[in-house]
Amino acid sequence: MKFFIDTANLDQIRDAQELGVLDGVTTNPSLMAKEGITGRNNILKHYVDICNIVDGDVSAEVIATDLKGIIKEGEELADLHEQIVVKVPMIRDGVKALKYFSDKGIRTNCTLVFSPGQALLAAKAGATYVSPFLGRLDDISSDGLNLIAEIRLIYDNYDFETQILAASIRHTMHVIDCAKLGADVMTGPLSSIEGLLKHPLTDIGLEKFLADYKKGN
Ligand code: G3P
Repeated sequence: MKFFIDTANLDQIRDAQELGVLDGVTTNPSLMAKEGITGRNNILKHYVDICNIVDGDVSAEVIATDLKGIIKEGEELADLHEQIVVKVPMIRDGVKALKYFSDKGIRTNCTLVFSPGQALLAAKAGATYVSPFLGRLDDISSDGLNLIAEIRLIYDNYDFETQILAASIRHTMHVIDCAKLGADVMTGPLSSIEGLLKHPLTDIGLEKFLADYKKGN
């Protein structure tokens, strides 16, 4: 399972990278705005800054919603850095763009996916990653994890190579549940990854080991 961090905050990206388990970064226009990154040139520079911190894939989202615009922006983003994956929304022209990028060897992440049918379409169009937003489904009393399970079943039935990138992860149990269901990737806040570290018996056990060592030395 790959671990991506879902933020545009460079300090958090550095922290996650230093932990040694980071495989990539996902961003979106809201996360960029949260960090105060505005204006096309600043946004493009920020993507390059992120690529220079991490070794893996960095999703950069297009703003255009028409085919011509998505292609123009996507090609510009892909040209920025070899680690860039073009993030395309699950809309009609987005599907066409996924196919176009796939044929040109440009890697994509199909975002804003909320149903198994949308995920099937993204795979058919050749998306590299599909991003089902499980937290936002949970927010409206739908079962986000069930969507991950349904997409896993469909992709395995036909050996689709599109990777399931479980997105809108909110906490550590989401990470563990997605791992059980066979999601290829998770993306969430740093806290959702750091939560995997924690167990009180680890702390108690270490304290005892260190105390016993001190007794004999
Ligand atoms: O990458 C998609 C993800 O950022 C959405 O997360 O927490 O805004 O639902 P959230």
